[in-house]
Amino acid sequence: MTSKGTEERTTALVTGANKGLGLEIARGLGQRGYDVWIGARDRERGEAAVAVLAKEGLAVRLLVLDVTDAASIERAVSTFSEDADHLDVLVNNAGLLVGRDDPPSRQSIEDLRTTYEANVFGPIRVTQAFLPLLRAADGARVVMMSSGVASLALITDPASIYSTVNLLAYSSSKTALNAVTVAFAKELEPLGIKVNAVEPGNVATDLNDNVGMLTAAEGAVSAIRLATIGKDGPTGGFFGIEGPPQPW
Ligand SMILES: NC(=O)c1ccc[n+]([C@@H]2O[C@H](COP(=O)([O-])OP(=O)(O)OC[C@H]3O[C@@H](n4cnc5c(N)ncnc54)[C@H](OP(=O)(O)O)[C@@H]3O)[C@@H](O)[C@H]2O)c1
Repeated sequence: MTSKGTEERTTALVTGANKGLGLEIARGLGQRGYDVWIGARDRERGEAAVAVLAKEGLAVRLLVLDVTDAASIERAVSTFSEDADHLDVLVNNAGLLVGRDDPPSRQSIEDLRTTYEANVFGPIRVTQAFLPLLRAADGARVVMMSSGVASLALITDPASIYSTVNLLAYSSSKTALNAVTVAFAKELEPLGIKVNAVEPGNVATDLNDNVGMLTAAEGAVSAIRLATIGKDGPTGGFFGIEGPPQPW
């Protein structure tokens, strides 16, 4: 993938990077000089994404990784470790939205479980599994892909566009992810590892049937910014496309 020595390489892993926001975050980090691992649960879809970015001259490779499958994550850690001895940036981007037409009173527990497996337990598992590699980096950055609808302040503010959204499983999973972000940030701060949640805005991707105000490239901006913050940057925060923190 690269001729740089192991120590001087800056490495990044983006989960769910075969399309949508993840692909654009991977592209943005690749353009900034990172060696980027494209996390994808499906090998063929991952290979197709790698081919696109490699053609643009970016240092990318595939890491088959289903964030809901502990064995898959373990294999991904071992595959990664064969090539690199540290991970500078982890973007927990993979996520899903199911049962969007069901009001809370009819949302199935199965849909809630499916959602939490990918959107909450997935980022926890992946962060825990890659922690030794994050610790081995000089000041690693972890970004959790949250959402505007994670914010209890915004979904209860009639002036916010997010107040019209009432997605029990999805919204509460991202609120939980924000809490997960704060918990990891507290533990990892003494190690120089910064952990922040971001929201990309309302982005047209397959997740929302491509109905959204922003392109995936525009939505990737907040994740790329927090993935590349300097030593004086924040940790344990929640950020959107604009600079200041989002309300929890
Ligand atoms: N679009 C928005 O407006 C918006 C707003 C706020 C937050 N977000 C968040 O942004 C993130 C990316 O979403 P997106 O809008 O780019 O949607 P997307 O185009 O549907 O992409 C989702 C990605 O996650 C992957 N994924 C799903 N479950 C996975 C699993 N178990 N293991 C590994 N990968 C998995 C998908 O893989 P497959 O291709 O194999 O399905 C795909 O690569 C999500 O966390 C989403 O909640 C999006």
